[in-house]
Amino acid sequence: MSEWTPIRSDLLRDRNFIGGAWRIGREDTWLEVADPATGAVIGRVPDSGARDADEAAAAASGALPAWRATTARDRAQLLKRWHARILASAEDLAKLISLEQGKPLGEARGEVAYGASYVEWFAEEAVRAYGDIIPAAAAGRRMMVVKEPLGVVAAITPWNFPLAMLARKVAPALAAGCTVVAKPAEDTPLTALALARLAEEAGLPAGTVNVVTASRGNAAVTVGAWLADPRVRKITFTGSTAVGKALARGSADTLKKLSLELGGNAPFIVFEDADIGAAVEGLMRAKFRNGGQTCVSPNRVYVHDAVYEEFAQQLTARVAALRVGPAKLAESQIGPMINSRAVEKIERHVQDAIARGATALTGGHPVRDEIADGPNYYAPTVLGEANHEMALFSEETFGPVVALFRFRSEEEVVRYANDTPYGLAAYFYSRDVSRIWRVSGRLETGIVGINEGAFASEAAPFGGIKESGYGREGSRYGLDEYLATKYLCQGELA
Ligand code: SIN
Repeated sequence: MSEWTPIRSDLLRDRNFIGGAWRIGREDTWLEVADPATGAVIGRVPDSGARDADEAAAAASGALPAWRATTARDRAQLLKRWHARILASAEDLAKLISLEQGKPLGEARGEVAYGASYVEWFAEEAVRAYGDIIPAAAAGRRMMVVKEPLGVVAAITPWNFPLAMLARKVAPALAAGCTVVAKPAEDTPLTALALARLAEEAGLPAGTVNVVTASRGNAAVTVGAWLADPRVRKITFTGSTAVGKALARGSADTLKKLSLELGGNAPFIVFEDADIGAAVEGLMRAKFRNGGQTCVSPNRVYVHDAVYEEFAQQLTARVAALRVGPAKLAESQIGPMINSRAVEKIERHVQDAIARGATALTGGHPVRDEIADGPNYYAPTVLGEANHEMALFSEETFGPVVALFRFRSEEEVVRYANDTPYGLAAYFYSRDVSRIWRVSGRLETGIVGINEGAFASEAAPFGGIKESGYGREGSRYGLDEYLATKYLCQGELA
């Protein structure tokens, strides 16, 4: 492990967590984990294969009968204990997130609180998985609906929020009475293993939570084993649309239930009647969280022609002042990108946009200096005069790049905003109440931020439509994703 900061040593795990035991992979092959700021190796974890995945599924399946038989109140108590352990280790977890993912420490602390809030929320929701009594459709009958756990859940989680995304999948699954096998992203397995350690410490029974780590190369084998396994009844995934489609295809033979939280390509619209200062602040919050590496990050910023210059000027001043640097420096606001592939994609989008007529108002290049001293830093960038011929119109950039597009009418901008196969989130700023209701009704997304750049909350349903996937995470809707609806019909009653 890197020495830049001491982290509670028992949270630094280098084994899979299967059936309540810490085990090396069956193939005894290893995956090195790198600090994205420097490329230095900070740890290693098993590069697991199909046998490890199978053992994890067997452990989860073995633990299921006892776990689903516990009372919701007992499951809630255990989730609360896990929540308390996460909060008690918040500083260590934040350092670990920063270390392997690269986000500045302040943001990593925010992620711990955000992830923990899902655990607390679903501890509270566990006891509210109500069924129904339906007025009988025929004499002498009782008609009832009960909710039951789906079974073993496979959670496949991304690198951008290594703690929060795992927590918001595992907590509702456990609350519902399901058991879990999880595979974290290859860039950020350490945080997932630390969370498993805290679940162990909280007293979650062996086999209820299992974590298997694997490289990108072996992900298809480990996850493939779960896709083919009839014991696994549900897949919950956050990541790219291409992988989401592969999971849907791969699980077709066993007809698993899926929750897919996929790519976004979010539009952010600034109408001529907007409060420009508030819109700039909202965009800064939405766009530069985690260096632009979020699925709800605004990818296309549409600004009305009448306010374009004013907005571009205010925004550029704010973006040019952002400080790029490693997570460990308190003043850093934009950390390194996750890896060199990410930087290459950002640079490809920026250069393509410039070649097609965009102007770099600030940034527009990778950074390497005495503070941002590593291979994966990219300058916070504003590109003016973007158009629909550019790659960044149709592909997510996933980096600290704002592309400004001009528009002239509401009709036109709503058409542009919806002109994408994706439908996760959209944002707009306006002070016209009629327009607010009209536009929020016409935007084809699962989430709309209205005069608001930061909408994520454990109390709200997070998820998309179209090729951004289906299923919702968080809120009371998030628990339903892990429950089957069973109808009981009793006859022969006097
Ligand atoms: C994501 O980027 O996948 C999730 C972001 C969030 O929860 O706000």
